[in-house]
Amino acid sequence: MSCYQCRLRWLIVTVMGVLAAVGCAGMEAPSPMPLKTPTPDPPSGSVNETGSPEYLVGMDLFQRNCSQCHGQKATGSEVGPPLIHEVYHPYHHPDFSFRAAINRGVPAHHWHFGSMPAVPDLSEGDVENIICYVRSLQRDSGMPVTAAC
Ligand code: HEC
Repeated sequence: MSCYQCRLRWLIVTVMGVLAAVGCAGMEAPSPMPLKTPTPDPPSGSVNETGSPEYLVGMDLFQRNCSQCHGQKATGSEVGPPLIHEVYHPYHHPDFSFRAAINRGVPAHHWHFGSMPAVPDLSEGDVENIICYVRSLQRDSGMPVTAAC
């Protein structure tokens, strides 16, 4: 074998090896498109481990003012809908619709439970705590919600 042939063979083998390696790497690591935005892990020291003050106050207020219709954990009851439901995801019902529901009530339109009466005597801060509590429950149930406490 002449030296030229020998080098040529080396070159071909090397090039094919590289192509094969690249090809395999491409096949080994398929990265499927996620179907929906993954729920970010809660930052450590948040809700589930310690319960932030906003979360705890919001939970207390929710239980006293909302749970009789929406359920203890916002999963619904015989007289009111679940708020852990994709219809109440922030994209469909942003925080302002929560404020409006609490301040003005809601005429029945999504469900057959009847209308929601306004919930009086809650301060703006109370309402924000309730909202962040509900958003936290939504997030904990796997909904892609980020504005939680
Ligand atoms: C007396 C029962 C009752 C109470 C108390 C109540 N709700 Fe509701 N709520 C309802 C019903 C029924 C609906 C569904 C109306 C529909 O869409 O058919 C509703 C709907 C809502 C909605 C959706 C608003 C929209 O724009 O569609 C939000 C948000 C909400 N409630 C939050 C709350 C919060 C927070 C509290 C406590 C501060 C609360 N509710 C207390 C019965 C209640």
